[in-house]
Amino acid sequence: MTNLFTGIGQLVVNDPGYGDGSPLGIVDDAAFVVGDDGRIEWIGAASSAPEADAVVDFDGRAVIPGFVDSHAHLVFAGDRAGEFAARMSGRPYTAGGIRTTVAATRAASDDVLQANLRRLTAEMRRQGTTTLECKSGYGLTVDDEQRSVTLARDFADAVTLLGAHVVPPEYADRPDEYVDLVRGPMLDACAADIDYVDVFCEKGAFDADQTRAVLDAARARELGIRLHANQLGEGPGVQIAVEYGAASADHCTHLSDADVESLASSTTVATLLPGVEFSTRSPYPDARKLLDAGATVALATDCNPGSCYTSSMPLCIALAVREMHMTPAEALLAATRGGAAALGRDDVGRLALGARADFAVLNAPSYLHLAYRPGVPLVDTVWMGGAIPCHTYGGHVAYP
Ligand code: NIG
Ligand code: FE
Repeated sequence: MTNLFTGIGQLVVNDPGYGDGSPLGIVDDAAFVVGDDGRIEWIGAASSAPEADAVVDFDGRAVIPGFVDSHAHLVFAGDRAGEFAARMSGRPYTAGGIRTTVAATRAASDDVLQANLRRLTAEMRRQGTTTLECKSGYGLTVDDEQRSVTLARDFADAVTLLGAHVVPPEYADRPDEYVDLVRGPMLDACAADIDYVDVFCEKGAFDADQTRAVLDAARARELGIRLHANQLGEGPGVQIAVEYGAASADHCTHLSDADVESLASSTTVATLLPGVEFSTRSPYPDARKLLDAGATVALATDCNPGSCYTSSMPLCIALAVREMHMTPAEALLAATRGGAAALGRDDVGRLALGARADFAVLNAPSYLHLAYRPGVPLVDTVWMGGAIPCHTYGGHVAYP
């Protein structure tokens, strides 16, 4: 069975081999055909589209690749709205708040954690996200981290162990023993369920030696690596990420010129999380420096109950454009193809021939509206492999 999607006012392919030849590869008045395998088998002008078994007409709307949210912490219980309110009254963000969520998560049943995962991933989907990564990091015992990654597996396309998020209270006086737990028994228990290992390399969390110890253990098990790096201040995180060939260095809020240079000359993706700066009222990273130096940049939500409780990639795009001086085209590319690069995926984040037909239809004639109309729910329908996971009708969500 083939599906023809037509009447597309503006199609963003994310490949310069198409349409206007820009990095977004924009095709106007476009159509594409999706085969049985959920992949794109024809792209071109709507006027020259071939016949297909079924036809869907988007009536002039824009179609973009589904967002790839490559950084989210979704396995947790409770929230920290009070901490947010205190921050907005002037209290600074610190890593310490994580322990509040750790206590709530440990006390929660599997059902509660699962319901939260279901709610948040549904929120993401209806805002256009079709591929997502999810981290553990609010359990911090072998059993609670194992439970977190097992639950995450059912909802996320990539799962990351963040046992090294903070040192839990019971190890407060012996942090190196906690590092030994993470790099030994915890990794052993979780290895089968994870794709990546992450460390929060920051003052108040883990230092360079502790970070390296965890990453060496990940490497020995041939797991991928990503790092929370340079979020609260300059530090060794970015350099360690590059040294270990990490898939991504995330946050990158405080970068030295050497950090920018290292990222630009490596395969490590610089993942920017502007929702965090928004929600912690902090200075934004210098995206222009990274882009102008030639680094691959991704945008992600960092959805978590502490530093940034948004699941909205469109919000991140709007912030990246307004606050980090990215062009709307750069921001969309970073939220799709950049995220895919950060997860080592070439089949998503673009809509070229052979790619998965994971896409979002916008209630707008152009992708520009994502930044131009901030806060407006522009995502009309979301399709995965050419099949609809959810419809949005003016905010009402109906599951087929
Ligand atoms: O990415 N930086 C470390 N971890 C999260 C925050 C988690 C929390 O505050 O609960 C982050 O910002
Ligand atoms: Fe994070």
